[in-house]
Amino acid sequence: MSTHIRVERQDAVQILRLERPEKKNAIDRAMYAAMAAALAGGDADEAVRCHVLLGVPGAFSAGNDLTDFLAVADGGESGTEVFDFLTALATCRKPIVSGVDGIAVGIGTTMHLHCDLTFATPRTAFQTPFVDLGLVPEAGSSLLLPAILGHQRAFALLGLGDGLSAEQAREAGLIYAVVEQEELETSVLAAAAAITRKPPEALALTRDLMRGSREQLVARIGEEAAHFKARLQSQEAKTALLAFMERKKAR
Ligand code: COA
Repeated sequence: MSTHIRVERQDAVQILRLERPEKKNAIDRAMYAAMAAALAGGDADEAVRCHVLLGVPGAFSAGNDLTDFLAVADGGESGTEVFDFLTALATCRKPIVSGVDGIAVGIGTTMHLHCDLTFATPRTAFQTPFVDLGLVPEAGSSLLLPAILGHQRAFALLGLGDGLSAEQAREAGLIYAVVEQEELETSVLAAAAAITRKPPEALALTRDLMRGSREQLVARIGEEAAHFKARLQSQEAKTALLAFMERKKAR
């Protein structure tokens, strides 16, 4: 299991922390596997009533590890870890609260579309530059983002790669609240604790009704994943991924 994912319990709350600060919490395959297992484990455990997702100061996540993408672009095996994690996230039965400070790129943004309450700090920037990387949206975001934002604002995010500040994301209904950095974790944990005090069956039914069909969502995640995998082999993606690696070397 990944040493970059820390799973903790606080009463009936399961906290999942992404902790790879030296890579701005870029998520590699082992981290996806650990997160999928933690989510599924917490969901199956009667003692857990709410999941929490947190990053490190300054970075929720810089998205998928681009060296993993490059390995697939070079003909390597892609594995099922990302899909397993996304399926666990999309089919989770218990509420998820997340806290974001700073960088939230790619899946670092789209993950929150599956959360029920997301808190972010004023310095947070949400960004989904899939097209600029020669890729397509993932995590069901091609379905969920237009539903939340309407087609045109979703297109600006997914098609143009425009970013959103925390305040813009709150106004657009993408996140619940903007709080100062030093209040982030307490706000997230207080919301999660409030959730654990609600009648769990009524809350689960309410969430299910609000979330709608999981089959449709998981099917869309699969459809996106098939395109994503093919796009990783494209010249557009290879050029963009190599440009990121060259940028690293140039510094
Ligand atoms: N995959 C792999 N490594 C990543 C990464 C990613 N997605 N994002 C950041 N890193 C690594 C950097 O290569 C660097 O490693 P190094 O110190 O060994 O060179 C380290 O994390 C710090 O990143 P750095 O780029 O120096 O930080 P920054 O504050 O200048 O920029 C970002 C932060 C997020 C803007 C920039 O790192 C970036 O654009 N990352 C790629 C984001 C992305 O496209 N994600 C995929 C979306 S699908």
